[in-house]
Amino acid sequence: MSALFFKRFLKRPFQIASIIPSSKALVKRVARKMDFSEPRVIAEYGPGEGVHSREIARRMPAGSKLLLFELDPAFSRDLQRQFADDPRVHVIHGDAARLPEELERHGIAKCDYILSGIPFSILEIKKKRALLEKTYEALADGGTFIIYQITNELRQHAKLFERADSEYFLQNIPPMFITVFHKTNHLNGHRRPLRRAAEFSTNHRSA
Ligand SMILES: C[S@@+](CC[C@H](N)C(=O)[O-])C[C@H]1O[C@@H](n2cnc3c(N)ncnc32)[C@H](O)[C@@H]1O
Repeated sequence: MSALFFKRFLKRPFQIASIIPSSKALVKRVARKMDFSEPRVIAEYGPGEGVHSREIARRMPAGSKLLLFELDPAFSRDLQRQFADDPRVHVIHGDAARLPEELERHGIAKCDYILSGIPFSILEIKKKRALLEKTYEALADGGTFIIYQITNELRQHAKLFERADSEYFLQNIPPMFITVFHKTNHLNGHRRPLRRAAEFSTNHRSA
């Protein structure tokens, strides 16, 4: 068990919402839902002590970007330390709702993937809807929003996504629903493929 994780849970039980990090099996299962064959822009909400972030950073090729949004100050400091030597990773100590401002600040137009471990089910309905809207807006056509949660209640609120696929994953304590929400804007009946990370950079476009 991660001592830091347990300590932070004792400090902020509702925000952390779990006494242990995701299992290795869950981390691998989630990572397999992303395609790392080319550079990607990925945002993660609520990385905690970074168990998913480390796996993503290990898999993502050069030219990718990973933006980590963590509310807890101790987790944020620890993430800064862990990724201090990796220029592809940016740690934001703040609310996931800051995504649009942070994308703009980093000169990124859209994300390929957004991963969330935050306890959506306890978010007040207005905040939940606003974050879902920002998430949808921030994704590229063909991008996905991936969540792992004890309940699958977010599905009923995330109707703006064109498709959702869920599985119940038992190899975690507690078992989790993993749901992938697809943003599939179709152009002339054809799904637009994900674009390379470099093409998302507004800096790149204006260069
Ligand atoms: C259940 S823990 C998940 C930690 C880690 N992703 C894992 O799988 O082990 C939830 C994390 O989300 C963070 N969190 C909760 N609400 C948040 C928000 N609105 N924005 C950013 N982080 C948030 C908490 O501080 C905590 O680190």
